[in-house]
Amino acid sequence: MALPSRGCETWAMNEELWTKVDDYLVSLLTSPDDALDAALADSAAAGLPEINVAPNQGKLLEILARMHGSRRILEIGTLGGYSTIWLARSLPVDGELISLELESKHAEVARTNIDRTGLGRMVEIQVGPAVASLRNLVAEEVEPFDFIFIDADKEGYPEYLILSLQLSRPGTVIVADNVVRNGAVVDPASSDERVRGVRRFLELVAAEPRVEATVVQTVGSKGYDGFALLYVSQ
Ligand code: SAH
Ligand code: DHB
Ligand code: MG
Repeated sequence: MALPSRGCETWAMNEELWTKVDDYLVSLLTSPDDALDAALADSAAAGLPEINVAPNQGKLLEILARMHGSRRILEIGTLGGYSTIWLARSLPVDGELISLELESKHAEVARTNIDRTGLGRMVEIQVGPAVASLRNLVAEEVEPFDFIFIDADKEGYPEYLILSLQLSRPGTVIVADNVVRNGAVVDPASSDERVRGVRRFLELVAAEPRVEATVVQTVGSKGYDGFALLYVSQ
């Protein structure tokens, strides 16, 4: 079956509806928040791509991390710190969050955005290729993380999974964004390296006896995609 094209008219109508519903849900359930609004405004002003999670997805991350009692959070892919702020808000006062970002410009914008929330002292941003930063964390034998959010380049997801497991303990929760890619994830012949990366990631997850996992598809203001939810059970 050919995949429906993203450019088609029905798709545009769907996106309009999903966005309307997201706007309704977010206005009802998330309080207006100056620091989060400023983070998005300053990220856009600095020319960062608008590929942050949606507000209701950010709140999902906050609730999941809080439900899990997370004290140590690792994020792979900071961008302007929007998801970082949601995650940091789940932490207790002695909590810690390390976020990994390739681009120093993104990290600088994020630093300012995060510091404005008053949570800056809990958040460390490490600049450089995430694989190198993850290998350093493994070599330093840091305390395992309670919660890991994977959201950097999709080509890197397989390696991020392998290294994240080395930074996990039984009970660690790993969430990965963008694993459905407008449905393209079902195409085994895809030539898109991002789709290939996500498919390889899911295959590794499926073959990994230490992990229980599911994927939920998402639609909304950020289009059609999905979250993978992993529980490290041993
Ligand atoms: N989590 C953010 C969005 C992240 S967008 C949010 O929801 O608000 C993906 C980010 O990953 C971008 O900032 C990009 O620069 C970064 N990135 C891309 N390749 C990377 C790599 N190899 N190592 C670390 N970060 C990378
Ligand atoms: C892209 C990356 C993301 O993390 C996202 O949520 C949406 C899009 C991208 O690289 O296109
Ligand atoms: Mg993402």
